[in-house]
Amino acid sequence: MRRPILAANWKMNMDSAALGAFLSRFVPLVADAAAVEIVIAPPFTLLDRLREQIAGTAILSAAQNVNPEESGAFTGEIAAGMLADMGCSYAIVGHSERRALFGESDAFVARKAAALLRHQICPIVCVGETLEQRDAGRALEVVAAQIEQSLAEVPGDQAEAIVVAYEPVWAIGTGRTATPAIAQEVHAHIRGRLRARFGDAANRIRIQYGGSVKPETVYDLMAQPDIDGALVGGASLDPEAFARIACFQEQRNP
Ligand code: PGA
Repeated sequence: MRRPILAANWKMNMDSAALGAFLSRFVPLVADAAAVEIVIAPPFTLLDRLREQIAGTAILSAAQNVNPEESGAFTGEIAAGMLADMGCSYAIVGHSERRALFGESDAFVARKAAALLRHQICPIVCVGETLEQRDAGRALEVVAAQIEQSLAEVPGDQAEAIVVAYEPVWAIGTGRTATPAIAQEVHAHIRGRLRARFGDAANRIRIQYGGSVKPETVYDLMAQPDIDGALVGGASLDPEAFARIACFQEQRNP
């Protein structure tokens, strides 16, 4: 079975005081959530402090980005080996904000994923169509192309280390979650593409949904057969809300 993975993407938010306040509320609330994997992706500046403060808990840390080079003259960039040194278990790559605001291509995302795998860090590879692409009936085709190209450098024997996050751009930060049926349709399509690429290992690759996930919507999303987790932005900044998302089985609506 695929272990559910609930990840917080804090984006460019939080500082050291806010981190401490968050964890002192959040950690006790998820103490019994042993069946799921809980991941927090803070800004780079908080990775070391997060590592110290989650020691002894089951929470894992993630970076929000990485540079694919090993080292060298890349001012302002952070290499995968440096993230390993910070104790990161995961790193997000190919987030739509990076694709749209910083011009990152699938080929660049593919190099990042490969660099992470070389350092035993699991890449969370984000894909997702824009509203324009969806309205043009191209959602599945766009996502399939992103999957193929963004995972082009993943060695077959490491397929199970990757996590895919389907994040429709029109649902990110908009309060407009994809319906469980829309999300499941794309997730099933992604799994099909993963099967074509990696064979049976595709059954063990986790596919997260992201885009305005809230405590009120997480249960029905997670009930879908190909939705194995959530990548959460806005709601993950609130310790109570993210704890309820992590404890998604308890959020069933009557
Ligand atoms: P959101 O962000 O939950 O605020 O929509 C999700 C993401 O960008 O990963």
